[in-house]
Amino acid sequence: MTDTISSLPPRPTDAPAPARGKLGVLLPGMGAVASTFMAGVMLARRGLGAPIGSLAELGTLEGGARVREAVPLAGLDDLVFGGWDLFDESALDAALTADVLSARHLEPIRDELAAVRPMKAVFFPEFVKRLRGEHVKTARSKRDLAEETRADVRRFLRDNDLERAVAVWCGSTEAWREPAPCHRSLEAFERGLDESDPAISPSQIYAWACLMEGVPYANGAPHMTVSCPALVELAHARGVPVAGSDFKTGQTLMKTILAPGLKARMLGVRGWFSTNILGNRDGEVLDDPESFRSKEVSKLGVLDHILEPELHPDLYGDLYHKVRINYYPPRGDRKEGWDNIDLRGWLGYDMQVKIDFLCRDSILAAPLVLDLALFLDLAQRAGERGMQEWLSFYFKSPIAPPGVRPEHDLFRQHQTLLATLGRWAAAPARLEAAE
Ligand SMILES: NC(=O)c1ccc[n+]([C@@H]2O[C@H](COP(=O)([O-])OP(=O)(O)OC[C@H]3O[C@@H](n4cnc5c(N)ncnc54)[C@H](O)[C@@H]3O)[C@@H](O)[C@H]2O)c1
Repeated sequence: MTDTISSLPPRPTDAPAPARGKLGVLLPGMGAVASTFMAGVMLARRGLGAPIGSLAELGTLEGGARVREAVPLAGLDDLVFGGWDLFDESALDAALTADVLSARHLEPIRDELAAVRPMKAVFFPEFVKRLRGEHVKTARSKRDLAEETRADVRRFLRDNDLERAVAVWCGSTEAWREPAPCHRSLEAFERGLDESDPAISPSQIYAWACLMEGVPYANGAPHMTVSCPALVELAHARGVPVAGSDFKTGQTLMKTILAPGLKARMLGVRGWFSTNILGNRDGEVLDDPESFRSKEVSKLGVLDHILEPELHPDLYGDLYHKVRINYYPPRGDRKEGWDNIDLRGWLGYDMQVKIDFLCRDSILAAPLVLDLALFLDLAQRAGERGMQEWLSFYFKSPIAPPGVRPEHDLFRQHQTLLATLGRWAAAPARLEAAE
């Protein structure tokens, strides 16, 4: 049997350096998720909203210690926001367009949100067919675009008097692409930048620029960014942690809660049909088959990994798994997801489970952005570099090292996350004991 991330040896346990000063949070893509995240942090620090869904803010480690008290995380008051978008709209305008938060929540933070304005985007329309924007960089070569993006990062750090920043992709889902030769190594990738290789996507340019500037990067969408060998190599070379891909919210969150339970009881699953309607801009982008393909690949992998049909052919060998996303404007961000699960029990008798999840996409995703920003910053201060598999808890398509099975089971992912934080929490005491 192949290893999963939960059976990997524990990561090194250097005590993280303290979180001194402010932490920049850079958001490539400032739409519904990004504006809901920023607004939530602004409200929480005024005591006007609770950061529900954030393990960093509300979680506890084994033994009951609060995560925030056990490990040195950046404080909410210390977060400074920036980002890029192809629409020249402030975070306030983005929040109004997204229509996620009510006037009651937006009113007290109007000016603060309005002050967050996007930098010009790196954008190639062939990667997101449904959008056109004018707030984009015009440099001709991909190398020049990448260098301009690096300069953006440096300026953001300088203007805000920051020593540290992290980046979390909250931009649209890019079209599905197979890995190309330019993704195989850093050298090939940088040659690709010089030659404006068509296989290099906007998100890869942001990631390259952030990593070059020592800024950790998480990918909240399903397309390939930091999962390619070239950018993993860069993350190692620059000593920067990365994580991905695709925020685990909504339907996939439910799937990875329920499937491990069904498997634990050795109940068979013959079919799992998932369909949903959503009407936000994300839904519009996903209406394009190439962007949907990225999502479909990300959503479909989950069940096979959890149920392991190769070990249990009688229970899961003929499982039919289907995922549909339907763009339906009247619902906006208030997605409705239906699951029909065809089960098989004792002597093969059939049963069904129906789920109807009336969720809110950005409300589910915002706390994940916060946790990823805080934990990637923590990891960097602990000397971590490269892919952070212990953050799989947050992703639909968690990336694992070569030869290791990605872990999809939410409970195992949770254990790995808490165990890693627990080791960092214990590290200073252990170092003192060794002196
Ligand atoms: N909300 C969820 O539950 C959830 C779950 C998993 C993944 N995601 C992913 O998170 C991302 C954000 O979702 P959202 O609902 O905020 O979408 P959104 O459409 O409201 O926001 C995305 C923003 O990205 C911008 N953008 C697109 N390409 C860009 C580029 N190259 N550079 C800079 N900006 C760019 C768009 O102009 C838009 O403002 C999507 O990729 C979505 O698939 C969301």
